[in-house]
Amino acid sequence: MPRPSLRTAGFTESLIREMSRVAARHGAINLAQGFPDWDPPAALVQAAKEALDTPRHQYATTWGSAELRTALSAKLTRFMGVTVDPERELVVTCGATEAMMVAMMSVCDPGDKVGLFSPFYENYSADAILSGAQPVYVPLHPPHYRFDPGELRRTFASGLKAFVLCNPSNPCGRVFTREELQQIAALAEEFDVWVITDEVYEHIVYAPHRHTYFATLPGMAQRTLMCSSFSKTYSITGWRIGYVHAAPEVIARARKVHDFLTIGAAAPLQHAVVTALNFPASYYDQLAAEYAASRDVLLGYLDQTGLAYTRPEGAYFVMIDISPFGYTSDVEFAHWMTREIGVAPVPGSSFFADGENRYVRLHFAKRPATLHAAGERLLKLKR
Ligand SMILES: Cc1ncc(COP(=O)(O)O)c(C=O)c1O
Repeated sequence: MPRPSLRTAGFTESLIREMSRVAARHGAINLAQGFPDWDPPAALVQAAKEALDTPRHQYATTWGSAELRTALSAKLTRFMGVTVDPERELVVTCGATEAMMVAMMSVCDPGDKVGLFSPFYENYSADAILSGAQPVYVPLHPPHYRFDPGELRRTFASGLKAFVLCNPSNPCGRVFTREELQQIAALAEEFDVWVITDEVYEHIVYAPHRHTYFATLPGMAQRTLMCSSFSKTYSITGWRIGYVHAAPEVIARARKVHDFLTIGAAAPLQHAVVTALNFPASYYDQLAAEYAASRDVLLGYLDQTGLAYTRPEGAYFVMIDISPFGYTSDVEFAHWMTREIGVAPVPGSSFFADGENRYVRLHFAKRPATLHAAGERLLKLKR
């Protein structure tokens, strides 16, 4: 048999999916893989049903149907406070997952360096490697997951081509402050670096924290490739629709990369999602309020266990310090917790570049009843 590619030889199976299987085997509540266990808005589901009765069964425009780009630009303009040109500044992709890959391949060449914060969402290093680039890491220091400006500067100065910013952040729940983002922006300017943002949790932010769109910072529109999607905002992770928003010159390139990767996202669902983009502001307020309530349910139980955790400022994950249990391997702890406590976490080491293994991550995108059931089980962790 010929040899498979060397570039992908180091890829391991996702620990998140492994934990989902372990959870199923032990009948544990799965708080490892983060996706909602409730239905999307009824109007959106109805729009999808109707979309199949209209002639939308063939390829849509490769870079996204005109009606979707028009509705998306209106929504982005509403929330970002800047004008977004639907004709020249958007490409619709198969989720933020493809958007990130498109962004990376559009600006990086083999041998380039891509900066990532660690802990990081596991796809980013794979995206860099698939682009032929080399991921380099800047620590976000637990328990507050802040960066050291000196460390960040040294990484930018080492010759980055692009920097990836996940904000609000999976897995650590940070919502970076405007001041922090300005520091990143200043370095991007000084060292002439692209910034690829992943903002899929833009609407899941807990007061008093506020989301700042990186591209809206002075001078950043020209060097930002903003990736986001409808997966989290409208609870439709299975629909696979996302997008890249960037300056026209970059989007011209990104559209070609996207065309070669996937041609396009599902045409009927592109039509349906227009309904969601026209939801009123109250939809987004309610989404954030519901997630805040879920967060409070889970954190309430964690408080009773006495375990230390980092309070999420956004997204729907919480990192918990498991050092009091004395395990040398967080993977072993995660298996033990799934088996004996009946709640499946993700071992934190799957997010860190440097072998850090004192943490596990739980998510709270679950109905209150599921979270209460999980919380009752978590009380057995009480120290
Ligand atoms: C930070 C982050 N980016 C991207 C994704 C995937 O987004 P999509 O479903 O739009 O591909 C996830 C899913 O968990 C995520 O947490």
